[in-house]
Amino acid sequence: MKVLSVVGARPQFIKAAMVSAALKEAGVPETMIHTGQHYDYEMSALFFEQLGLADPAYNLGVGSESHGAQTARILEAVERVLLDERPDCVLVYGDTNSTLAGALAAAKLHMVVAHVEAGLRSYKKAMPEEINRVLTDHVSDLLFVPTALAVENLRREGIEGANVVVTGDVMYDCVLRFQPLFQRERDRMLGDLGVREREYFVATIHRAENTDDPATLRAIVASLGRIAAELAPVVWPIHPRARKKLTELAIRPGEGVLMIAPIGYIEMQALLAGARGVLTDSGGLQKEAAFHGVPTVTLREETEWPETVEGGCNVLVGSDEIRIMAAARGAKGRVAPPQGFGRGDAARLIATTIQQRGRGSNG
Ligand code: UD1
Repeated sequence: MKVLSVVGARPQFIKAAMVSAALKEAGVPETMIHTGQHYDYEMSALFFEQLGLADPAYNLGVGSESHGAQTARILEAVERVLLDERPDCVLVYGDTNSTLAGALAAAKLHMVVAHVEAGLRSYKKAMPEEINRVLTDHVSDLLFVPTALAVENLRREGIEGANVVVTGDVMYDCVLRFQPLFQRERDRMLGDLGVREREYFVATIHRAENTDDPATLRAIVASLGRIAAELAPVVWPIHPRARKKLTELAIRPGEGVLMIAPIGYIEMQALLAGARGVLTDSGGLQKEAAFHGVPTVTLREETEWPETVEGGCNVLVGSDEIRIMAAARGAKGRVAPPQGFGRGDAARLIATTIQQRGRGSNG
């Protein structure tokens, strides 16, 4: 029994850290491919170090490309490794170009494809991630779903039965696992940044829909400036995609918006947990903020995690300044963490299911 996992982007390292540890505990050998989609130290190696992930056996070094070129290069390179390694099961995570390319390479070689974080939908086809997740789900043999809603999403597309396994959310596992480290890190970071607990916001922006349209990016950055002026400072760890656009367009946020380099997992959780509120377009952060009981303002019109909205932790506001300001003003105090994300043993359930069923009948 041999598992080969494909990772490439920041959120995948977090999920893989939990599942890798669980596979090891279950005695299932794993070989990891890093596609190289994220390559800066703060976007990649830092996560491996902090989360105790072993160095990947392969790094494909694909880097940044257009969607088609990036996906194609990963597909081609993963296929070569799969032909050499001949794993029983290929494990992919989430919804990035690395996910789709890994799943497609494996499916075409008739290997068992296992998808962690299956069944999520934003129902917005213009998002590259939506295309990636729908296609990946449809070529997967084992679909590890985090929530009851994800089961329902798959059922509507005709995917149901024993292949769909409800595990809970691996990112919830991760928050529980590393929780003891957050408080000390929080004290250090808040001191360095000169902000006080519950008296600052955290912002992250990286979705193409927000960074690539100048008017949208300007509106969001203007809102951050207003929040900093009227409510509380905004700490903004800047994704390289956003940084590039800000430089190109010569956009400068107002005073009180503290722009910092991308930060690691522990730092981000520490910062989130102490915040008054979070402004983000990240899927992962919406959940993580909710796990910490921190209100979220989502800079999108839809979410893959409606449970956070229904549970009262999250408000969808798009990029409209008036809506952003209203939601930021309302982001005060703690919110009750949402239910339905499992018991913190998602990774263990994934590992034991792969151990029992990862060989499949089509390998
Ligand atoms: C990707 C995923 C997205 C995920 C996000 C997590 C896709 C389609 N998108 O988006 O689902 O939420 O990762 O962060 O797969 N760059 C660097 N250094 C790096 C990585 C990227 O400078 O280490 C810059 C490059 O200019 C690159 C841009 O960021 O063109 C975007 O990177 P890319 O991996 O294409 O997409 P993300 O926006 O990171």
